[in-house]
Amino acid sequence: MTTDTLPPAPPQKVTAAEPASQFWRVDDARQTMVLSAAGDRLPQVTYWGARLPDAEDLPALHAASAYDFTGGMLDENPDLSICPEATQTFPGQPGMELRSGTGAPLHPSFRFANAVQERGRLLLHYQDADNALGLQFTFEADAETHIITCQTQLTSEEPVHLNWLAAPVIPAPQYSNEMIDFSGRWCGEFQMNRVPWTAGIRARENRTGRTGHEHFPGLIVPCVGATNTQGEAYAFHYGWSGGHRMVAEELPDGKRQVQWGNATGLELEPATEFSTAPLYLTYSNTGLNGCAVSFQRHVRDRIVTWPKPEIPRPVHYNCWEAVYFDHKLDELCEIANRAAALGAERFVLDDGWFGKRDDDTSSLGDWAIDARKYPDGLTPLVDHVHGLGLTFGIWFEPEMVNPDSDIFRANPDWALGQADQLLGRQQMVLNMALPAVRDYLYDNIAAVLSTHEIDYIKWDHNRVLPTPDAAQTRGTYALLDRLRTDFPAVEIESCASGGGRIDFGILQQTQRVWLSDSNDAIERLRIQHDAALFLPLAVTGSHVGPRHCHTSGRILDISFRAWVAAQRHMGFEMDPRELTDHEERVLTNATAWWKANRDWLIQADILRLDCPDPAVIAEQQMTPDASRFVVFAGKTATSNQISPRPLRLTALQADAMYRVGLVNSSDMSRLTRGTPALKDGEITVSGAYLMQHGVTLPWAFPDTMWVVEGERL
Ligand code: DGJ
Repeated sequence: MTTDTLPPAPPQKVTAAEPASQFWRVDDARQTMVLSAAGDRLPQVTYWGARLPDAEDLPALHAASAYDFTGGMLDENPDLSICPEATQTFPGQPGMELRSGTGAPLHPSFRFANAVQERGRLLLHYQDADNALGLQFTFEADAETHIITCQTQLTSEEPVHLNWLAAPVIPAPQYSNEMIDFSGRWCGEFQMNRVPWTAGIRARENRTGRTGHEHFPGLIVPCVGATNTQGEAYAFHYGWSGGHRMVAEELPDGKRQVQWGNATGLELEPATEFSTAPLYLTYSNTGLNGCAVSFQRHVRDRIVTWPKPEIPRPVHYNCWEAVYFDHKLDELCEIANRAAALGAERFVLDDGWFGKRDDDTSSLGDWAIDARKYPDGLTPLVDHVHGLGLTFGIWFEPEMVNPDSDIFRANPDWALGQADQLLGRQQMVLNMALPAVRDYLYDNIAAVLSTHEIDYIKWDHNRVLPTPDAAQTRGTYALLDRLRTDFPAVEIESCASGGGRIDFGILQQTQRVWLSDSNDAIERLRIQHDAALFLPLAVTGSHVGPRHCHTSGRILDISFRAWVAAQRHMGFEMDPRELTDHEERVLTNATAWWKANRDWLIQADILRLDCPDPAVIAEQQMTPDASRFVVFAGKTATSNQISPRPLRLTALQADAMYRVGLVNSSDMSRLTRGTPALKDGEITVSGAYLMQHGVTLPWAFPDTMWVVEGERL
């Protein structure tokens, strides 16, 4: 029988006996999300996009957006609900997979229980009476950052085994050909992948037990034609540090769903309560930058809590690439002197100060100060650093243990995984679910913090878990919570072999991320440019590395290295004794510029520019009122064409005049011979011109950076 010969399809069934349908909307000034539930079934997101009028008739919108169907389909379109149910003949990945305490698969079917809506917050509660389950969803719109935060919670009267629970499931736009997700590696974080939408699933599952370099939990779905600066885009971030799963699926009927949750099977024990991490969403009609700015502001102003918000972000010095494990008090004091002279305001003592840690084969877990290196303890170094006017920070890697350590020899059962597991950097992972482990770590860290004036911890995590386990992440969060309660003035940096633990979950407990172990300015420029889709300057560490880069082997000029670090939370990580007078001068000047500007830079938005020259990576950091900006235009290779292409700026006030000038005209190459006005001083032009035509920059060598300041007149 062909479709033509089929009897007419019955209309979608709605009988008077069914409970009334329900509608909710979640708004801010930029976006609206509409949830519609047929009868007492789970709701679907029937609209998410540009703000709808207040007077929008939601039942009419629901009816208008019902999809048609034809032959070869079910007699009704299964709901793409916020937790798609297998019991509804849903043809894609369900939003939940669970088994009873005895292991029997459960196929729940939820029915409406109650809803509470107040001031941008929506709470929906559903129940499955047969299986004694409750399902709760929260949605919260932030009027200022335009982030919608949502979360799913499951409760059960009897303990159940959870394999998968999705945060509220969101349909992806149809006006999109591709999605952008993120992968990476050590020294190569935040790599953007553009993946076309096709039938079936694009799944990213991170089973390493930490956020990882490999699968940053973010997704951007640009609509057709969107760029950094224009068009529509939808963005997602899952705020969890224990490994996640993302499913972006095009269903057989062409609809698309995006699911986020903890990686499958992360809950090892049956329980009566489970929760996803918060899922952060935003819609933008100003290109990818609209999403980026929302995430940047939300992280800075909502997620992170700042121990000393009144104090400007201090310029860092970190000694890792200067001395590694070879700590000598007199040398560290000399390094601190030089770092202070360059402009550093915080000195961070990295790995190597405890146990018998002369290399990475031993001592993790033995958090006693090494009396061979520090016969009088850390106080002489701390005092010396304070005497220079710098604050003091220290490195820990709390969740790890070397088999060659006193603590492991005394407590081999504290380590996660089998005895014959593969080691990573010669180390194992402590079981953070054990209260005894957390108490031990708390006591040891607290002992160092309470006996020294230390205001900063670099908290490292250099290996993946032997097997992923959500209890591990919860244990780490609990330890961080306890330390932060007792030492509220201490700032914490999240590091995991560079950027292996960056997500909004860890950023609720920390204030800075060590974005990458790559201090190679060419690589760093790209990594921090792409990370800015989610991260603000305030949390993103960036250090001037050694002249001869330790992780790439490249030799890069000091000016380029300094300006790349000045794009984010600035610091130094080379041995300052290697610097020539010229290098010292350049670095001191760039640091002074950063300090003079940091107050407004911290509050600025990072806007990625659409560059017509693929050799250039450029961004505009601008005050939210568009009155002041700085453009960093980094050149990573020799351009194909010989003349620099003008660089279009973005989001300026079109009818205002801006005074624009080069900050680092002393970096001019001796090969430039032309007369672009910027070479000789400031130009005054309109915002419209800067956005439409763009700035004509002087010719430059590869591996250089132009820094351009602008001010509205
Ligand atoms: C890995 C980090 O990413 C480095 O910055 C440094 O702290 C080392 N660990 C120390 O072992």
